[in-house]
Amino acid sequence: MDMVSCQIRNLSAGFGAEVIGLETTGEIDAETRQALRKAFDERGALLFRKLDIDFAGQDRLCRMLIGDETPGSTETRKENHVSNKEDDGLAPSGRLMFHADMMWHEKPFQVLSLYAINVEPGSATTSLTSTEYAWRTLPEDLRKRIEGKHARHQTGQVYHRGGDDLLMPQRSVEQSTVKAIPEIHPRTGKPLLYVSQQMTHNIVELPEDESEELLLKVFDHLYAPDMVYEHEWQNGDLLVFDNIAMQHARGNVERDGPTRTLRKVIAPIPNIKAEAPRYAKA
Ligand SMILES: [Fe+2]
Repeated sequence: MDMVSCQIRNLSAGFGAEVIGLETTGEIDAETRQALRKAFDERGALLFRKLDIDFAGQDRLCRMLIGDETPGSTETRKENHVSNKEDDGLAPSGRLMFHADMMWHEKPFQVLSLYAINVEPGSATTSLTSTEYAWRTLPEDLRKRIEGKHARHQTGQVYHRGGDDLLMPQRSVEQSTVKAIPEIHPRTGKPLLYVSQQMTHNIVELPEDESEELLLKVFDHLYAPDMVYEHEWQNGDLLVFDNIAMQHARGNVERDGPTRTLRKVIAPIPNIKAEAPRYAKA
């Protein structure tokens, strides 16, 4: 009889799990794949430490977590690095407020993973929060005020909520989408407190000042210290999270600061022609 070939333990009270002892060089057996998928859906994020994994392996793992077991296509794809040192590094500097990637799109991709290829001590942390856990724990008065309303999410950062070290993604055409609160997760069916500091522009049913006041109260809950997991990077760390149920943020990254190079792999690859953002500091 097969047995699950790794240990899975909770990373924080509300979400996240650490996977210990997974062997990723060969085929992952069926029971272990099932256990990892269950943990991913229930906990929203998986952390693997001291992992030796290449682009193809990271891609395979991300897709497996959402049920795609087809052979990969990494030979024909560019490997993307979030890096403050490499010439073509993504998001090379600046701070990022909490968001989910492509939140401004009707159908964002489902899995986002970051693998620490080269990180030096003191490099910026990545923080996670769960909109699924936040919805479950939202105080009743706030739930009553926001439930059934709709939020508009937009490209770029909502700059007035941040400081002057924000990274500003710039596009020639801004895009936005409107979603219900709660948003229902397309894979797990769970309700999500789907609003973010960086990308949620406003609650469409409310006047501007009332919308902002309500959003800031909701953010106080979503980003409270005990709702956030802050990851300090070490080489060989792989952090895989649900890009719909979770949000991520990072501290300030500087070009001349400690090296911070993370391989970013997403799944599925979105079938849209979105303009890649150019970056400038706020
Ligand atoms: Fe992001």
